[in-house]
Amino acid sequence: MAKQKAPAWQWSEDGLNFRTRKWVRPEDLNANGSLFGGSLLKWIDEEAAIYAIVQLGNYRAVTKHISEITFEASAVQGDLIEIGLQATRFGITSLTMRAVARNMITRKRILTIEKIVFVSLDEHGMPTPHGYDEITYERDRMPTERIATGTIRLPSA
Ligand SMILES: CC(C)(COP(=O)(O)OP(=O)(O)OC[C@H]1O[C@@H](n2cnc3c(N)ncnc32)[C@H](O)[C@@H]1OP(=O)(O)O)[C@@H](O)C(=O)NCCC(=O)NCCS
Repeated sequence: MAKQKAPAWQWSEDGLNFRTRKWVRPEDLNANGSLFGGSLLKWIDEEAAIYAIVQLGNYRAVTKHISEITFEASAVQGDLIEIGLQATRFGITSLTMRAVARNMITRKRILTIEKIVFVSLDEHGMPTPHGYDEITYERDRMPTERIATGTIRLPSA
């Protein structure tokens, strides 16, 4: 029998790729026994930070603004959550992203965040131009130094 093609929504939606998955553990639950919103927001903020670092080539990228959030559905212990992010605007020092979180088990959308804004900072903690105006799908902007240990020694090609 021919293998059935998976519905498109399972992997992407409106230009969003769902690369990050989380498992709802006991420590992620609220007093109602469902997913604690703070855990989900932490996962999204962390994912957005990594996305911003990869896009802006600067590990000094901080959350500046998160737009209105409405929780549409939830999850329970053991559910699998997937998070999709997309850059929607490259500013001078900022990067704006859109985020969607979905429950892979119930196939319901948990939330959409239209704007998550990160700002690229210099070594003094001031906004600094990042110089980019489009998304990279490569790893060509990866930082080559880090705060803790200085220069990263990359393996020779
Ligand atoms: C990030 C920080 C240095 C920016 O300082 P600032 O005085 O707001 O800087 P600017 O006014 O120059 O704005 C920087 C960028 O953010 C954008 N921005 C500022 N306020 C914004 C808002 N409310 N919504 C969306 N974007 C905003 C600006 O448009 C600008 O983008 P651009 O350069 O691409 O045009 C400062 O606000 C800060 O340190 N905040 C704490 C960040 C942090 O620690 N986050 C982690 C959570 S605790």
